[in-house]
Amino acid sequence: MDVTSRRRFLQMSGVAGAGVLASPILGCGDDAAGDGGVDAAPAPAFPVPPLDDGELVGGVRLFRLRLQSGSVEWVAGFPTATYGVNGAFLGPTLHFRRGERVRLEVSNALGETTTLHSHGLQLPAASDGGPYQTIAAGATWVTEFDVVQPAMTAWYHPHQMDATARHVYMGLAGVILVADDAPGVELPSTYGVDDLPLVIQDRRLAADGTHPYSPGRAPSMHDLMAGMRGETMLVNGVRQLRGVVPRGLVRLRLLNGSNARAYQLGFVDGRTFVQVAGDGGLLAAPVTATRVLLSPGERAEVLVDFGGDVAGTTVALASFSGEVFSRLYAGTMGGNVSDTLDRTTFELVTFEVGAAPVTSLTPPATLPAIERMTADQAVRTRSIVLDMTGPSVTINGARMTSLGASVPAAINFQIPSGSVERWDVTNNSFMMHPLHIHNRHFQILDIDGVPPPVELAGWKDTVLVAPGQIVRLMLRFDGTTDAALPYMFHCHILEHEDMGMMGQFYIVEP
Ligand code: C2O
Ligand code: CU
Ligand code: CU
Repeated sequence: MDVTSRRRFLQMSGVAGAGVLASPILGCGDDAAGDGGVDAAPAPAFPVPPLDDGELVGGVRLFRLRLQSGSVEWVAGFPTATYGVNGAFLGPTLHFRRGERVRLEVSNALGETTTLHSHGLQLPAASDGGPYQTIAAGATWVTEFDVVQPAMTAWYHPHQMDATARHVYMGLAGVILVADDAPGVELPSTYGVDDLPLVIQDRRLAADGTHPYSPGRAPSMHDLMAGMRGETMLVNGVRQLRGVVPRGLVRLRLLNGSNARAYQLGFVDGRTFVQVAGDGGLLAAPVTATRVLLSPGERAEVLVDFGGDVAGTTVALASFSGEVFSRLYAGTMGGNVSDTLDRTTFELVTFEVGAAPVTSLTPPATLPAIERMTADQAVRTRSIVLDMTGPSVTINGARMTSLGASVPAAINFQIPSGSVERWDVTNNSFMMHPLHIHNRHFQILDIDGVPPPVELAGWKDTVLVAPGQIVRLMLRFDGTTDAALPYMFHCHILEHEDMGMMGQFYIVEP
């Protein structure tokens, strides 16, 4: 699967700094230059982040990323201070190709230390961009690694110890597309036309455009415990995102890039879609569905057929959050850490059906098989207990308080390379926690003893664990060993991560 770019957004992405943008990354311009775009798809395109193909330098694909401040006018007349990557808010979609070597040059113009983590990628610990790979204000972090995994949708965001939630909320995040040449499965892949990333986020914007992470402000203890939510929905950085899609099959790469909110996504007209991929790439079979549930950090790729719609029809993608509320939040305490939107239905994106595409695809009938890992493959088992007590969020009763230290010292694993482990993840608290593991994709063995449905049976890196649930995971710890640098695993509610709901593991020589 390849992604073609018409580079129509590059101008937009250059706007930054003091500039005020009504639509930070909106890409409704036309392809006047037509600079090498190979597709003949109908304009106008859908508002998506600019596609960054990098630049081949000596056989290595180089991406130059600048972390910078800016502002966006989501509230008319009141610009909100933001962070962005090569722009005012969010960052370009990075197009990686399996088998290539990638070089990231990340310069930090923020005026404060941060990091840039590649969520979902298999890489050496030194390239992970976790809390150990800090980039001081004014510095540039350079890292190189091989793209080893199959096609998937990943993403990048900061991972600065104690500041991840604020840095992401300010706007540092972007999509990574990994493409490969694996034959057999043909999916819509014209970026910005029928292959659309949707970065779903919520922000709590006051009438003056500020939010609780704005300079000089701070979230409350309640916000930290619940995880920061907001009532203003942004998709690709835009309020009430609306765009034209071809009258045919469209692929949506859904990313929950929110700090804390889960979404039960579906279309308001009840139409079905076909889910073909989860966090770690293609599922073992296409799944026809009307809903997909995404907790923070999770991704899904779905195919939506607009071929039966009359041109000019509009249909909205919404979150039917009320349907899953009682599963994700238990009892009175669960009620306290959720908000009104978590109990209701709200719209996120409006699709307007345009002209029919030149060639129209149909969803694949089958997908390549995925070999299931089995419980007996595990050489050891770990139990991972997620809990919240008082003002504290814990893993196995411990909190990571600073790099390399947890109190008590319970969440620091040494794992011999090549071992297969089973992690039994229990949620003893009253709210859902999305557990994310760096570097290794895992399979869900079962959820409360029941094998997962197909959409959860593929490779994953983030898993929603509901209150009272036990989710058992199978992991194979291959890859580069490093006795000095660990990988992280943590709750992807970013306030929980910052409060220490995080542990680390080293992949060491067997
Ligand atoms: Cu998406 Cu450790 O992060
Ligand atoms: Cu990650
Ligand atoms: Cu959590």
